[in-house]
Amino acid sequence: MRIGVLTGGGDCPGLNAVIRGIVRKGTQVYDYEFTGFRDGWRGPLENTVTQLGIAEVRGILPRGGTILGSSRTNPLREVDGVRRIKENLAKREVDALIAIGGEDTLGVAAALVEEGVPVVGVPKTIDNDLAGTDYTFGFDTAVGIATEAVDRLHTTAESHRRVLVIEVMGRHAGWIAVHSGIAGGANVILIPERRFDIGQVCAWVEQRFRINYAPIVVVAEGAMPLEGQMVLKDQSRDAFGHVRLSGIGEWLAAEIEHRTGQEARTTVLGHLQRGGTPSAFDRWLATRFGLHAVDAVHEGAFGQMVALRGTDIVRVPLAEATASIKTVSPELYEEFDVFFG
Ligand code: F6P
Repeated sequence: MRIGVLTGGGDCPGLNAVIRGIVRKGTQVYDYEFTGFRDGWRGPLENTVTQLGIAEVRGILPRGGTILGSSRTNPLREVDGVRRIKENLAKREVDALIAIGGEDTLGVAAALVEEGVPVVGVPKTIDNDLAGTDYTFGFDTAVGIATEAVDRLHTTAESHRRVLVIEVMGRHAGWIAVHSGIAGGANVILIPERRFDIGQVCAWVEQRFRINYAPIVVVAEGAMPLEGQMVLKDQSRDAFGHVRLSGIGEWLAAEIEHRTGQEARTTVLGHLQRGGTPSAFDRWLATRFGLHAVDAVHEGAFGQMVALRGTDIVRVPLAEATASIKTVSPELYEEFDVFFG
């Protein structure tokens, strides 16, 4: 049996650990062969492949990024996309696919399963917003990087008695903002799930100065003021229709300065959160996902995604996992009220 493997969407620390887990178990236990498809769904769409065997996965466990490359290609928007994928899989004698990705990549996987393509999914995103799994790998690494940044910003903010705003990733969900903000002792945390009142943010900032500390504001890139829209980088959209975010941090600092008279600076963490070596937890989770994904293929569990529930790896239907995203609940967010201001 030959299995195709692809990684789609934004890259994420731990992708290589999944690939290694799949190839090691698939080769050693099941005697499977593998084909690596290049750059997400573009690989099966354009029939671009790379060799994938034990030799190719040696040494990749601690490496960030993905040896297969990634893209946000959406084959469902291409003329004859599904037919071309089926033909290319047949040409390469690929019997099943393992797709590693977030809601977009796995949404395509769910649609292909409906068309008779045998796919198993592995959940990936630093945003941790994929439904059906308690955690996705990459998230822990991103939170670690963001927390270290918050820690570092405290001392410079206090030295200059400035407001420091830190913008973290999180398009639809504020998981990175909440986890790093709480871990780093931020005074304001703003997330996409709840529109914020700029007057309230300024009141928290002023309160923080009154007790002789400098405020740290963690804002997710998708956060929005009560009045107004998401701040966009430009007008472009990717193949899944997503806009490019970033800018809310700068907007916030300017607004805080204007309203409070306190000096404010912004740090945008951007792709630093996605690059580099995965944390130990992400390597552990990604490895387990890889091992369980190849088991799922072996058992013919197509249309399923491996997922973390508590400490167990379970399977959930791809269609269910991609039907909605997992967001920060109001109850969880309100748990931290005491730290604001
Ligand atoms: O989906 C993961 C993510 O890192 C989001 O947090 C972010 O909005 C987006 O990708 C950025 O995408 P790109 O790297 O394509 O600009």
